Amino acid sequence: MLQARIIGTGACLPEKVVTNHDLEKIVDTSDKWVTERTGIKERRLATSEEAASDFSYKAARHALKAAGVKARDLDLILVGTVTPDSPFPSTGCVLQSMLGAKNAVGFDVSATCSGFLYTLSLADAYVRSGRYKKILVVGTDILSKFVDWEDRNTCVLFGDGAGAVVIEPTTKQKGIIDVVIGSDGRLGDMLYIPGGGSRIPASKESIRDGQHFIKMNGNEVFKVAVKTMERVSREILKKNNIDPGEVSIMVPHQANIRIIQAVAKRLKMPMENVVVNLDKYGNTSAATIPIALDEAVREGRIRDGDLILMAAFGGGLTWASALIRW
Ligand code: ACO
Repeated sequence: MLQARIIGTGACLPEKVVTNHDLEKIVDTSDKWVTERTGIKERRLATSEEAASDFSYKAARHALKAAGVKARDLDLILVGTVTPDSPFPSTGCVLQSMLGAKNAVGFDVSATCSGFLYTLSLADAYVRSGRYKKILVVGTDILSKFVDWEDRNTCVLFGDGAGAVVIEPTTKQKGIIDVVIGSDGRLGDMLYIPGGGSRIPASKESIRDGQHFIKMNGNEVFKVAVKTMERVSREILKKNNIDPGEVSIMVPHQANIRIIQAVAKRLKMPMENVVVNLDKYGNTSAATIPIALDEAVREGRIRDGDLILMAAFGGGLTWASALIRW
């Protein structure tokens, strides 16, 4: 039976580093508050010229190189993002052009912070069905351009970046075991951007009212995130008859260290087996998991045969988990 396997990873972060101390000069916050409440020390932010496809392109190049795959050999490009370069064309199409992947079809998937795992679930299903063979999966977000830099409740949380993986079929007992995705649209207003779409198109008024900025009920998001990430992790483990103790390493969505610690505690997973890099990058939304995976792979933290658990949660609401035998 065909299974999908990740054969290369890559990531790209903006060069511009913005520390908590830098933010103290912009909003009424402190390095102490942000560090204690979130675990974030600094984040990377895109410049005014840089957009999602720029980081996606570089992350994709790294992943293709690691996989030993040429762009022209790709037959599908999936991009998880809620911050495309523009409403259309999709970042998948932009990326196809940048890479010269003329034999691929490209499109985007909108699932906020769960975007990478949503696209991974599609890639997994396409490979298993035999429809596509060489797939580039990218998670990218440039939320700094959708954050109100006068709102201390949100602006300290996010960073920009992209991560990518290349996937191909395998007949070995390795690769993506399962991906679970879920959503609950009734809770959409817990975390959302009201303007900039067809409901509230960009206008002088929408700009004046800050309708194109992220709105978030942080406390509620926090509570739901912990419960949901635990639930979706347990769900995929149970579905595949795997005990939490068998997991070698967890790569969770990087939103807040307290969310990650709470989920790890509930799953009885030691923190040394959990990949954490939000101190350096903040919450890069759809990019957190592929960036963290790439770092863990390059640092040698993930070894042949390891069992990897991934879990994410985001606006929509959306959630997802994945189990991978490396
Ligand atoms: N600096 C200083 N004080 C702050 C800041 C800040 N940056 N932000 C908020 N505060 C204040 C608040 O105004 C509040 O003050 P008050 O008590 O006088 O009203 C106080 O700190 C406590 O605020 P809380 O909201 O209770 O703080 P909490 O401990 O819940 O932490 C946080 C807030 C960090 C936002 C947390 O709730 C959180 O991480 N939530 C999850 C957010 C998240 O993960 N969002 C992304 C989801 S993924 C996606 O889809 C994009």
